[in-house]
Amino acid sequence: MTQDLNDTQPYRRILLRAVGMSKRFGALAAVSNVDFDVPRHGIVSLIGPNGAGKTVFFNILTGIVKPDSGDIWFNGKRINGQRPDRITHLGIARTFQGIRLFKKMTVLDNVLVGNHTHLSRNLFEVVMRSMRVQDEEEVARKRSFELLDFVGLRAHANTEAGDLPYGMGRRLEVARALATSPQLLLLDEPTAGMNPSETAGMVDLISRLRRDLGLAVLLIEHDMKVVMRISDRVSVMDYGIKIAEGSPDEVRRNSLVIEAYLGRSANAERELNPPEAEANQEPDTSGGLQMRPRTVTG
Ligand SMILES: Nc1ncnc2c1ncn2[C@@H]1O[C@H](COP(=O)(O)OP(=O)(O)O)[C@@H](O)[C@H]1O
Ligand SMILES: [Mg+2]
Repeated sequence: MTQDLNDTQPYRRILLRAVGMSKRFGALAAVSNVDFDVPRHGIVSLIGPNGAGKTVFFNILTGIVKPDSGDIWFNGKRINGQRPDRITHLGIARTFQGIRLFKKMTVLDNVLVGNHTHLSRNLFEVVMRSMRVQDEEEVARKRSFELLDFVGLRAHANTEAGDLPYGMGRRLEVARALATSPQLLLLDEPTAGMNPSETAGMVDLISRLRRDLGLAVLLIEHDMKVVMRISDRVSVMDYGIKIAEGSPDEVRRNSLVIEAYLGRSANAERELNPPEAEANQEPDTSGGLQMRPRTVTG
């Protein structure tokens, strides 16, 4: 499919559109013919059992993995085959499934690293420490402090990143991603391993990404209470295929989803559909709502 999005101008509403994405690793079809839209300012969740292909899909969108087929448009322009740094520059940032910080660097320096893509790349200028570079560095520092404010870490600016509690480390990764000035932020399991109050803090932060910064967010998330609370739309993958898509309500009542997710667990329906009272409580990751890894056969 090579039709330009400009033909119909849906890019006014749609920030990212992926069409027919496929990726095999040998015999394994990790991602199979997946279509995916992220609306401007949307919060979209991607869910599915372990091994479903969710992270591979993120890796395709960010240029880390080259798909076998499919097209990706961002802001109405095709971005297929672009290098990861170029895609970052175009406005797509991400965090990774496992925490990735420069542990021996300060919190502030970790954010400054994200800013780096915006600094002048002219080595001569850098070496000469020209006024302009100094100005740029000052702007980057100021911006980094603002981002630390935004994620609630300003007071920890001079702490070594490796000394931060886990939940703060994950918020620092968000600040670093924001330093590249994205329009779309991809979050790969941002609440995994968090305690209930850390999870509540992350949910609040994700909501503010849209409300205060106007970002679109695509997140891979296992905590169904988080998914149900913040998503406009939910897409479900299983064995590389997108098996369902819709509002959180539609998806959690979908029988294909219940089956894919939880096998034939008697509790599947209840786990995807927490009682209202429970759903309105503060997130509680110790509850029975975590998606379970499915035993992979073969
Ligand atoms: N670089 C790779 N080489 C080979 N297999 C991979 C690679 N990356 C992921 N896979 C496989 O692709 C499948 C989907 O993985 P992934 O997208 O990480 O799943 P998840 O939905 O849990 O994020 C898994 O079976 C995984 O082992
Ligand atoms: Mg994953």
